[in-house]
Amino acid sequence: MSTNITWHPSLSRSERNKYRKQRGFTIWFTGLSASGKSTIATALEQHLLHLGFAAYRLDGDNVRFGLNKDLGFDEKSRNENIRRIAEVAKLFADSSNIAITSFISPYKADRQQARELHAQAAAHPDDEPLAFIEVFVDLPLEVAEARDPKGLYKKAREGKIPEFTGISAPYEAPENPEIKIESDKTSVEDAVRLIVEYLEGKGLLKL
Ligand SMILES: Nc1ncnc2c1ncn2[C@@H]1O[C@H](COP(=O)(O)OP(=O)(O)OP(=O)(O)O)[C@@H](O)[C@H]1O
Ligand SMILES: [Mg+2]
Repeated sequence: MSTNITWHPSLSRSERNKYRKQRGFTIWFTGLSASGKSTIATALEQHLLHLGFAAYRLDGDNVRFGLNKDLGFDEKSRNENIRRIAEVAKLFADSSNIAITSFISPYKADRQQARELHAQAAAHPDDEPLAFIEVFVDLPLEVAEARDPKGLYKKAREGKIPEFTGISAPYEAPENPEIKIESDKTSVEDAVRLIVEYLEGKGLLKL
């Protein structure tokens, strides 16, 4: 635990957004392995970059190469994995970027914690909460298992990967996500369009 620490205030979020000419917020993908989180998140990131927005994707395995290389896949490590990602996403959002996260994030309580972190993230007394958009990429387990692009389900069924989400570890589906995408019925392009329409509808793509 850190003690004797004092928050040092800086300029307000709206001032920073004005200089950076965009609002910062977080788009949080959740869903089973192979549901399509990384595929849709990457297409969304590209689309937003083409439109001129600063967007940056934090993705499952990639983060485990560096920041979270010390963490495993047991429940406690998954909690800590998501806690750190949420903190990093919040920093990106606070610096007027669009943070896009694509992690299985199977536990409701962890996603709720990430959401609350954004809601409370006032770096300045005038700050509004940071928007947090949960995108549930929904796909029946059988379809995800049939896709199996990384061969992980096969390994999990053979008992070679312990605590694999959907097989030997739980996935707690969101009840009220801001956006739900059924990736067996929605193309990647349509998924991106749905998300962008949602962001436009909420006024998040303008100051
Ligand atoms: N409509 C769709 N949306 C997203 N992905 C799709 C769709 N149709 C087929 N796919 C395929 O499904 C696979 C999804 O894999 P992807 O790596 O994006 O999943 P993920 O949710 O990020 O999994 P993981 O949690 O293991 O990282 C890809 O091979 C992708 O091409
Ligand atoms: Mg992925």
